[in-house]
Amino acid sequence: MNPKHTWMNGRVTPWAESQVHVGSDAMLRGASVFEGIRAYRSADGDDLLIFRLADHFERLFSSSMRVLRMRIGFSPAELAAGIVDLLHANQVRDDAHIRVVAYFDVLDGAATGEGDPTGAYILAFPKAPNPKLATGIRSTVSSWRRPTDTSISPRIKASANYLNSRVAMLDANLKGFDIPVLLNERGRVSEGPGQNIFLVRKGRLVTPKITDAILEGITRETVLALGAELGVAVEEREVDPTELYVAEELFFAGTAMEVQPISEIDGYRVGDGRIGAVTERIQSRYFELVRGAAPATWLTSVYGAPVTA
Ligand SMILES: Cc1ncc(COP(=O)(O)O)c(C=O)c1O
Repeated sequence: MNPKHTWMNGRVTPWAESQVHVGSDAMLRGASVFEGIRAYRSADGDDLLIFRLADHFERLFSSSMRVLRMRIGFSPAELAAGIVDLLHANQVRDDAHIRVVAYFDVLDGAATGEGDPTGAYILAFPKAPNPKLATGIRSTVSSWRRPTDTSISPRIKASANYLNSRVAMLDANLKGFDIPVLLNERGRVSEGPGQNIFLVRKGRLVTPKITDAILEGITRETVLALGAELGVAVEEREVDPTELYVAEELFFAGTAMEVQPISEIDGYRVGDGRIGAVTERIQSRYFELVRGAAPATWLTSVYGAPVTA
């Protein structure tokens, strides 16, 4: 069921009235950027905690919007207040998924960049726990490649990039897999359609570099920090596709996916097919963080203290 409200251009708005014009550049050319953000019910009570909100706004404003030369009429603090108002209006008290979208509106002539009309909206949905977190999913190396930095950079979280994700995902699903891994143009491992990838090789936690055609994931950063905190050596380096077939452990990491073990890839069982020891430690620590154990600057309270972003 759809939520009752969205937040559109400064106002909590009924779902049915939440519209972007058919003539907008967002609609015609996919000219929008967004963030996927999670809020979790706190371990110690009734609050809802938004995870790493300031980092999501940093990526939205300083990476995605910056590259597209996009300006919107709302500051991160105003969008943060919008998220909180929307969660209140939709009466979301449990785990939630939030999307903040900045879009180019109807153009009067050719695109000029910073002066072009824009808008922003927010969606917030309740999100049930992922049932596959304990058991793992089936993956495959896709024949679709991630775009290059010089075509449409995976570094920016542009809506149009998700056409690449969509074809790769549908292809994998039709072949009976859950989520694919995409290679970059150099034939090295990049990421999943909406999540970064991690391997455990000889006890070390390995993930592709930020120059390997990936989105610079916030969860990726959290996982790298957790690896270090747990005493696991971490490596950011180029990854060959066959390394996926010989890794002791494999998992996806992303705001939506959380820390998702992969139990099989292209018919190769990963480890003994169950969640690996390193993955399990990172996953359980991740959930402690998002439910309240993270540093205060990573958590924004929805029903408690005043909003920070
Ligand atoms: C293509 C892609 N890679 C990686 C990620 C993971 O990024 P984050 O951890 O910031 O959600 C996402 C999700 O936003 C994504 O869409």
